[in-house]
Formats: sequence, structure tokens, C-alpha cells
Amino acid sequence: MNPVFRQLSAALLSGSLRGTIRLGSNDLRQLLAFTARPVTWEPHRRYCCFEMKPKVYVTRNDYARIGLDLLREECDISLWDEGYPVPRDEFLKNVAGKDAIYCSLNDRIDKELLDQAGPNLKVISTISVGYDHIDVKECKQRGIRVGYTPDVLTDATAELTVALLLATARRMFEANKQVHTGGWKSWSPMWMCGTSVKNSVVGIFGFGRIGQEVAKRLAPFKPSRIQFTSRTDKFLTAEDLNVTQVPFDELIETSDFLIIACSYNVETANLFNDAVFSRMKPSAILINTSRGGVVEQHDLIHALRAGKIQAAGLDVTTPEPLPLDSPLLTLPNVVVLPHIGSADIETRIEMSRITACNILAGLKGIRMLSEV
Ligand code: NDP
Ligand code: DGY
Repeated sequence: MNPVFRQLSAALLSGSLRGTIRLGSNDLRQLLAFTARPVTWEPHRRYCCFEMKPKVYVTRNDYARIGLDLLREECDISLWDEGYPVPRDEFLKNVAGKDAIYCSLNDRIDKELLDQAGPNLKVISTISVGYDHIDVKECKQRGIRVGYTPDVLTDATAELTVALLLATARRMFEANKQVHTGGWKSWSPMWMCGTSVKNSVVGIFGFGRIGQEVAKRLAPFKPSRIQFTSRTDKFLTAEDLNVTQVPFDELIETSDFLIIACSYNVETANLFNDAVFSRMKPSAILINTSRGGVVEQHDLIHALRAGKIQAAGLDVTTPEPLPLDSPLLTLPNVVVLPHIGSADIETRIEMSRITACNILAGLKGIRMLSEV
């Protein structure tokens, strides 16, 4: 085999070759035997084309099909062929040489992983609006584009937030357990009484897409006031929605319901801790659909046990999944859901489509549907 041809074979096999190569039929026979790569033979032109598709790594096999099918049309996909998150060592091993990664919030994308992926990596697309699992700064420095899925999941998550709030406030899971375990003896005047939203003060921390939609959905429940705290001034939005922007201290001290709807970042990490719970109303109910890390969970457990606050509804915890021996699961005044905020079928299908489209756009160097 001549040296040029040997080099070409090696490049093909390692995937470092891009574009179209022209070869005569003799060379082609040898190369085909050697590489087993897909080729298009065009006899009338007396050469063949090797179209090297971009390589995409997908971190599990159960993302809604539409996204994976879209990628398959234009890319070589390799995936972790299981319906659970790829183990870290497998991820590190298999990401080498890839052009793009389709990932979820389970997959930590840090410097180590980017190093392992190597210089071909151009796009990371996460099937989530939260991107705290990705070292975005490091990606930017390396010129790697990051796609995500805002907006499409806002309604589903706001709806779940309201459902969780009502379930926690009206003790639905606690009451349902009584039905199953024989605790339901008769209709009783003061049994399983909870708290209504009507006439309450609703507080929302983080007044972005989801926070605002939660406010809209809770208004018809006739709270006396809806107030919020956010990083930036939102006077116009507040006026439009008939809600009030208040300082953090006022939010925590006066809210009957305190809903956490912020993103997770250095400022919000462990923000809800003992110091905060100590200043909340003892009758207050905390709802978190943001990220588990925004709440100092040991402090929360202590606050719930000590009666510093009344109850908590959590769609997100630390860690996830929550271990079965977590004290949170022993508290009757806590509702825990397994991070299902955006989990409606249409939403998850659309999230998969957007995640794939972001990758294809990133690889082509054109505008993504949503880019961080
Ligand atoms: P947005 O970016 O629209 O909203 C996030 C809000 O957090 C912003 O309004 C921002 O304030 C606020 N915020 C961030 N840091 C601070 C801070 N230090 N102090 C006060 N406010 C702060 O995102 P979304 O509403 O679309 O999503 C919010 C988060 O919800 C996601 O990041 C994700 O973690 C979580 N999520 C969870 C889901 C689930 O399944 N449970 C589903 C979807 C999302 P400002 O606008 O003033 O800058
Ligand atoms: C997100 O999108 O950030 C959620 O946590 C999952 O949908």
C-alpha cells in the first residue's frame, strides 16, 4: 500500500478526515476492504466520494425519537445504549473525537470532559433549560457552542409547580396515604385540613419565564398579593401582571407560599438555608421546582422538624435520585417528586427535537433555535 494511501486510511479510520476525497477504483477496493466506511461510487466520474458525517455522542438511548432521527439523517451517532445516564468513565472514553454532544442535566460537562473530547468538539446541546451542569465559560473559551431548550417547557413546569403547591398545601399525598392504610374513619371536621391560596401572600423567587407563568396561573386562586424577587428590575412586567417586586428580606418574611423558580448559579447555591428559614413565617410553605442545590437540604429538614416552616413541596433535591433513607421521606409535611417539572409528553418530544436542531445548526455554523 503506498504511503499516501496508508495515511489516508488511518485518517479515515480515526475520523480526523473531513469533506470529500477522490479516489480511483483500484485504490477504492483496497480502502474499502481496509476501512469499511460508507462511500458513494460514481463510475461515470471514475472516482468515489467519502462523505464523512459529523460524529455526535448521545448520552442515553431513550430521548424522544424525533431528535435522534433528525441527527441520524446527517450525522454518525454513537450513543450510550441504555435508558439511564451514561456512567462518567464511559462518557469520558466515548466522547473522544466527537463533533457534538447531545446531553441532559445528568451529564456533567466540565474541563476534564472537554479535554477528553478534544479539538473536534464544536457543539453541546442539552435537553433542558437549566445549564448549570455545563461549564459554559470553558466552552466559550474553546469556541464550543451550547444549545438548550428554554420556552418550550415553561408552561409544563409552571403547571407542575402549581400542582405541587396545591398538593403540598392541601396535604393531598398525606391524605391519600390514609385512604390506602385505613386511616380514613369518617368525614371529620378538622381532619386533614390544609392551607388555601385564597387570601394568602404568594412569593416567587426568580421571576423569569417559569416564575411569571406561575404567577399568572396562581392569580385566579385569589391570593391577597403576589410578590416576587428577581436579580433585575422588572417593573413593567410586574405592572402588566399586577404583581409586586419586593426585596429578598421582605419576600421571605411575608410570604405564605415561597416558590423557588430561579436558575442555579453561584449566587443562588444554598441560598435557602437556616438563616432564611428562621425568618420565614412558621406557617409558610416552600415550593422548589428550580434545582435542589438552591436549598441547603439539611437546614430544610431541620426547619421542617423544628416547625420553623410548615411544609415543603420539592420537585428537585440533592442528590437526585433522593436516597430512600433520606429523612425528607419520613416527614409527613413534605412532598417530593422525581424532577418531573417539564415531564409532559408533547413537551419532552419538542425538547428532543430542539436539542437535535441546535446540534445541526451548531455544526453548520448557523443560528441555533436556542443558544446559551
Ligand atoms: P429564566 O432564566 O427565565 O429564569 C430564571 C430566573 O432566575 C431569572 O428571572 C433570574 O432573574 C432569576 N435569578 C437568577 N439568579 C438570581 C439571583 N441571584 N437572585 C434573584 N433571581 C435570580 O429560566 P426559566 O424560568 O426558564 O427556568 C428557571 C429554572 O428552572 C431553570 O434554570 C431550571 O434550573 C429550572 N427548571 C426546572 C424544571 C423541573 O423539571 N423542575 C423544568 C424547567 C426548569 P433575572 O431575570 O432578574 O435575571
Ligand atoms: C430543565 O429543563 O432545566 C429541567 O430541570 C428539566 O426539564
